[in-house]
Amino acid sequence: MNLSDESILIVDDVSENIQVALNVLKPIGISFSFAMSGKEALNVIKNKRPSLILLDIIMPEMDGYEVCRILKNDILYNDIPIIFLTAKSNVNDLVKGFEYGGIDFIAKPFQKKELFIRVKTHLQNYLSQNKIKYHLNNLIQEQQKLQLFALQQSKIASIGEMMLSISHQWKQPLSAISLGAINVKVKELLKENPDKLLLNNLNMIEEQIKFMVDTMHDFSNFFKPDKDKSHFSLMQSSYELINLFSSHFTNKSVTIDLEFENGHDFKIFGYENLYKQALINIILNAVDEIEKKCSANKNILIKCYKDDKYGVISITNYAGQIPKLDIDKIFDKFFTTKGENGTGIGLSMAKQIIEELGEGKLLVKNIDCGVTFTIKLPIK
Ligand SMILES: Nc1ncnc2c1ncn2[C@@H]1O[C@H](COP(=O)(O)OP(=O)(O)O)[C@@H](O)[C@H]1O
Ligand SMILES: [Mg+2]
Repeated sequence: MNLSDESILIVDDVSENIQVALNVLKPIGISFSFAMSGKEALNVIKNKRPSLILLDIIMPEMDGYEVCRILKNDILYNDIPIIFLTAKSNVNDLVKGFEYGGIDFIAKPFQKKELFIRVKTHLQNYLSQNKIKYHLNNLIQEQQKLQLFALQQSKIASIGEMMLSISHQWKQPLSAISLGAINVKVKELLKENPDKLLLNNLNMIEEQIKFMVDTMHDFSNFFKPDKDKSHFSLMQSSYELINLFSSHFTNKSVTIDLEFENGHDFKIFGYENLYKQALINIILNAVDEIEKKCSANKNILIKCYKDDKYGVISITNYAGQIPKLDIDKIFDKFFTTKGENGTGIGLSMAKQIIEELGEGKLLVKNIDCGVTFTIKLPIK
């Protein structure tokens, strides 16, 4: 039993009784607090929550039953075990004590051995129950986190499937348009004086169709769940992602600078699509911030460099700092400052992807006039 943070409260209006109990219980090795009335006991409990209370029943003003009733109705304290100390020993009194929520009785004058054993047993029970509760809570939280992540991932996968089926449906009409353009082009080229403007336009149609097909293909890939970890190029992966969302950035007049220190690329061993999803969540938040604050500086700077055994990607925007009160909660799930427009899932998912699945680190810090997120991924 680790008793360093635990204490027992002894409540009795006769100080000699407190002294006797204290002498008997000292060998348990726990700290003690005392109160000589019901009111004082409630104050002491508010200051430091005890792990067990020895409570005299007969006291002036507020008796032990009343103290017990108040505590059992208070969600903060209703699990603390209460042992009544009593000179009374008729059955009705015992029943009343149990009804109020007491866990045991010890008769006065104390049988020293009995006092010691009863208190120690109840204390041990209470502490081991707390330990179980604590582990159970952790397990439940862990489980909820996993469920949320699985839910998000299955949503993302279903977007991928939807895109794939759109691209299948579009294949036929797009090939028909492309073929039509080629037929007209061939016919025009066979003429003695082909119309240059028409040929230019036909070439443009072909290029645009290729662009549409490629984009559909890239987006479906982006939303596909990673099967296994693989070696991927940080440079290629980051460029692909930024190109994929380029029209979104252009629409919002945001520019992205991607810099690799000395032009060096790194090979990361991990889940490539998950990495892209984490990165895009961070970038889209930066875009949101630039838009919300109507920031004069609409640039997002992404730097990649090596730090020991990590490949580091820092993402900086200059749309002002994150308020001190928010920055500690920023990775909590459901934390958002965007009201209806936010879900508060983006960064908690990014954190889980980078730290739990990627064995890396995701950090945030305020800088002059802006914010830097840092992703560290192990180079293998
Ligand atoms: N670059 C940033 N600058 C300032 N605040 C940010 C930035 N990125 C994230 N935040 C804050 O973190 C919160 C949580 O982000 P996120 O988990 O992606 O959820 P959401 O975008 O749905 O709000 C945002 O609501 C915002 O307040
Ligand atoms: Mg977000």
